[in-house]
Amino acid sequence: MNDLEQIVAGAAADFAAALTPAQLEDAKARFTGKTGLVTELLKGMAKLSPEEKKTRGAAINETKQRIEALLGERRRALAEAELQAQLKAEALDVTLPGRGRSLGGLHPVSRTLERIEQIFGSMGFDVADGPEIETDWHSFTALNNPENHPARSMQDTFYVDMQDEAGRPLCLRPHTSPMQVRYARQHAARYAANLDGMPEIRVIAPGRTYRVDSDATHSPMFHQCEGLWIGENVSFKDLKAVFTDFFRTFFETDELELRFRPSFFPFTEPSAEVDIAFASGPLKGRWLEVAGSGQVHPNVVRNYGLDPEKYIGFAFGMGPDRLTMLRYGVNDLRLFFEGDLRFLSQFK
Ligand code: PHE
Repeated sequence: MNDLEQIVAGAAADFAAALTPAQLEDAKARFTGKTGLVTELLKGMAKLSPEEKKTRGAAINETKQRIEALLGERRRALAEAELQAQLKAEALDVTLPGRGRSLGGLHPVSRTLERIEQIFGSMGFDVADGPEIETDWHSFTALNNPENHPARSMQDTFYVDMQDEAGRPLCLRPHTSPMQVRYARQHAARYAANLDGMPEIRVIAPGRTYRVDSDATHSPMFHQCEGLWIGENVSFKDLKAVFTDFFRTFFETDELELRFRPSFFPFTEPSAEVDIAFASGPLKGRWLEVAGSGQVHPNVVRNYGLDPEKYIGFAFGMGPDRLTMLRYGVNDLRLFFEGDLRFLSQFK
């Protein structure tokens, strides 16, 4: 191996040993830099004859070109290695599961409310909404529940320290029954103004209600759904038909019995609690109370702004929370209102 070939071999070894671009530039300086080996060789040519200069010069130039080619190759290899290292360091594992937000679902009680609205809607009932902070008058007095009457204590009401514009005391409504009065008064007045007679009133009013009550089957905030059907010829038989239809549709079974048990409400006379019993399933044969109901008391019809000699009908109030518990087999009402996702996500 002559001296030039040794230089090329040395450069190849040094370049291969350089692991970074900086090390490679250092190695390059040792060969083709200002004081590098190749540069020194060129300087050494000064002593040669013109003939020798020609052949030696060509040989040195070729050496220089070979070194530069090696250098270029090594530069590309190092740049490629650096790129690969960077790609590896910044790699994204696209197969990892995403961290997206989980989808929400309807609250089980909201599902029941939607079902109730849909079923009664199909029977021609309007759906009305009303205030949760309600006047004492709509909550009790208009419902034939005079001030200081002991029947008011059936409901442990949350009174609020406020009055409406007319100076009437307010409370958190203890039931949805005030909506009977609001809806019937509004519609009676509208129809009276049109002088074209009074079509039937058929409405349900679902919503939140409040009582000072708290255990596994009572919550201070709970839901009720009021119902009212008033006309010139509406009777208990219609109530039974509507309820039978409703509960059988709601629970998706025809094997369900209804029972009307005599009861008392100031705003209905006669009054009845409604019980249902399933013919099969875990609750088979047990009577379960699901609603209060009755024929609307003449005093209440009068408070609607209607003549009780002419208009008659029934009202009911049922518990959507209870219906939800029965439908899904939930045994503690409080689970609905604690907001625990482990419970709620089961209904998605
Ligand atoms: N409002 C009554 C309650 O809360 C239920 C009811 C409504 C009873 C309408 C009769 C008629 O218990």
